[in-house]
Amino acid sequence: MSKILLLYSSVYGLSKRICERLQTHLAEKGQSAEVHALVDDTLDPAAYDAIVIGASIRQGKHNPSVLAFVQKHVALLEAKPSAFFTVNLVARKPHKNTPETNPYLKRFLATCPWQPKLLGVFAGELDYSRYGPVERRMMQLVMWINKGPTDPSTRVQFTNWSEVERFAGRVEALARS
Ligand SMILES: Cc1cc2nc3c(=O)[nH]c(=O)nc-3n(C[C@H](O)[C@H](O)[C@H](O)COP(=O)(O)O)c2cc1C
Repeated sequence: MSKILLLYSSVYGLSKRICERLQTHLAEKGQSAEVHALVDDTLDPAAYDAIVIGASIRQGKHNPSVLAFVQKHVALLEAKPSAFFTVNLVARKPHKNTPETNPYLKRFLATCPWQPKLLGVFAGELDYSRYGPVERRMMQLVMWINKGPTDPSTRVQFTNWSEVERFAGRVEALARS
């Protein structure tokens, strides 16, 4: 049985819930997986057999703590089975929902010293009711530019949970490798 570390960088909790779904699926397959915030300094990533990092996009970028973590642990991440997934709204578009086509993932990998062995892209959620006035305006602008919903009553989740489960299967295979 592998011991798998699932780390999330999340603002409104979706990336964390994706990690929790991965954890459930891995547990069903007999794997032990733990979900933790990426910024949890009490963790020792070296104590795990495989590492998965999931992070959402905000204003065009993953949280800077993602790159900081990668830079600190790059040797470990390269040595172990490791995976990365990104969560964003641009990925709701079918032609931007793969590692080869998602602009945020491509940009992240271009600036990142780590080349994860497995990559995932998941569409995020939009819920204007949760945002403050400045964030709401910002998201309406982002959505207007991307031809998405701008109605402030919009609450929609674009995440394909079957795709998350397929990714969990690939994480399991990676951890076994
Ligand atoms: C303030 C703010 C800015 C965002 N900026 C972007 C963006 O530039 N591009 C994008 O595709 N999604 C953007 N999103 C959408 C988030 O990536 C999406 O809501 C995701 O589900 C958030 O996941 P989390 O709850 O794990 O943080 C933004 C969301 C918020 C609230």
